[in-house]
Amino acid sequence: MENSEIGTAWWYHNGTMHPNGYLLDRAYRYHPSRRPTPFKVYPRSARTDLCLEGRQSTVSAIEAISTREHADRGSVPDIGLVSKILYFSCGITKSIDFGPPVGRIDFRAASCTGALYHIEAYLVCSDLAGLGAGVYYYEPKGNTLCLLRSGNHMGVIDDATADETFASRSPAVLVFTDIFARNSVKYQAREYRHAFWDSGTILANAMATSAAYKVPYRLLMGFWDERISGLLGIDWRNEGAVALLALGNTDYGSRAIPPMGDVPKAPPPEYTSEFPAIAQMHEASSLHGPGEVASWRCGHLLQPRHGSGVEEPCKVTARGLPLEETIIRRGSTRKFSHESITADQLTNVLWSSITGIPCDLQLQGTICDMYLIANAVEGLSPGSYFYDKTDGMLAVLQEGCMRDVSGHLGLDQDLAYDSAATVFFMSDLQHVLEAFGNRGYRVAQMDASITAGRMYLAAYALDIGATGLTFYDNEVTEFFSPHAERKSVMFMLAIGKKERKR
Ligand SMILES: Cc1cc2nc3c(=O)[nH]c(=O)nc-3n(C[C@H](O)[C@H](O)[C@H](O)COP(=O)(O)O)c2cc1C
Repeated sequence: MENSEIGTAWWYHNGTMHPNGYLLDRAYRYHPSRRPTPFKVYPRSARTDLCLEGRQSTVSAIEAISTREHADRGSVPDIGLVSKILYFSCGITKSIDFGPPVGRIDFRAASCTGALYHIEAYLVCSDLAGLGAGVYYYEPKGNTLCLLRSGNHMGVIDDATADETFASRSPAVLVFTDIFARNSVKYQAREYRHAFWDSGTILANAMATSAAYKVPYRLLMGFWDERISGLLGIDWRNEGAVALLALGNTDYGSRAIPPMGDVPKAPPPEYTSEFPAIAQMHEASSLHGPGEVASWRCGHLLQPRHGSGVEEPCKVTARGLPLEETIIRRGSTRKFSHESITADQLTNVLWSSITGIPCDLQLQGTICDMYLIANAVEGLSPGSYFYDKTDGMLAVLQEGCMRDVSGHLGLDQDLAYDSAATVFFMSDLQHVLEAFGNRGYRVAQMDASITAGRMYLAAYALDIGATGLTFYDNEVTEFFSPHAERKSVMFMLAIGKKERKR
């Protein structure tokens, strides 16, 4: 399947719309007793325990997500920094026992649909202080790295990314993969959207943690998929790489590709995906070889000029809690009160999150547009709004109380009805697909999800709550039209005050 045949992305996207997508079965039911084990085990791998002691950053969450210049040139993370970045993006931050049939759930640093934790993290690195060169799997349960290959395999990353300039000078790369069946067991074929939603929230944390410790980073969406799967020893029918995060900066010259033997195997997964549309969409958006990766990276997206991440001065006025404290406190709000948040809080959440994502594509800041429904924002009339990224202003679309609308659009959930504001991240998908082919689908989803992941953090840093939500696709577009005509919803986030326990 060709990346340029963008009918596949539309077929997948339309087919996985709520409520009547033709790739979804409305009668399908998930029972919590079927919850898959949320991590892999490599019984025969050497393990290195990670340690979080040592340097502690006091950088605020708002600063960490909104800073544009956080790169120290010549920066090579040591095992301590790698530990921080992995823990504060993928680590277990709290555990709750819900009793049968759900049982105990180990919650992670970043939010994840259904707490199913289908995104895995791997580290590929040269020799770092405290850690030998190798390919490792991050096991969240023990906060441990499991060795899959020893020796320097960064040459494989260079090959797979067609010598992308930043990555080829990086001493370490995190690879995030999606285990399809671990999430599709509940969400069917819509899972492939979740692959980006849930890696996006992880990446928002990983990028913020890197920024807090002045580790330069770059997101890589363009890579030779099969080469990366081979390096990690993963079975492409069950698991696919969705993003790479290159970390640090050195002056290394060209890196050789060592002979590659077998990787220790994890026991087979409990479930294999019953939804072929996921693997089909992953395959149709795959890149095959360095030549295709290099030319894909040159894709050009015409974007309306706006200030996010470019020349506009940052209008962030709040500092909020330190990043690490924010991540430890974060947890999706389960019940919102009807209390108001302030317009200042809302503005800070929005503006701090749209600073653009350093990545392998030439993008002018965040590519999605944000539409809002304000239910209870002090200093802002209730109604629907378009957030203008050029000047950070909210343009009113319709005034009036719209709790019923936000509640309905968020799949008729109370969270969407009760929250102070709901944010809809919308993209002109056709436009993105024309620039980047089916791979553009991954880019559009990821761009919105990282931005939303930052908003999650900004909200918690300012002592308000947030939760991701799912939505009725076409009804959102219709509601915000004609302004949002042709735009598709990529992510929905509700923010507001948590209901206090009585
Ligand atoms: C993209 C996304 C969509 C979500 N959708 C819903 C939803 O529709 N309803 C809901 O109650 N929770 C939703 N959640 C919240 C998850 O259930 C929650 O993240 C998960 O249980 C893990 O808990 P934590 O975020 O507190 O760590 C969503 C989370 C994300 C990231």
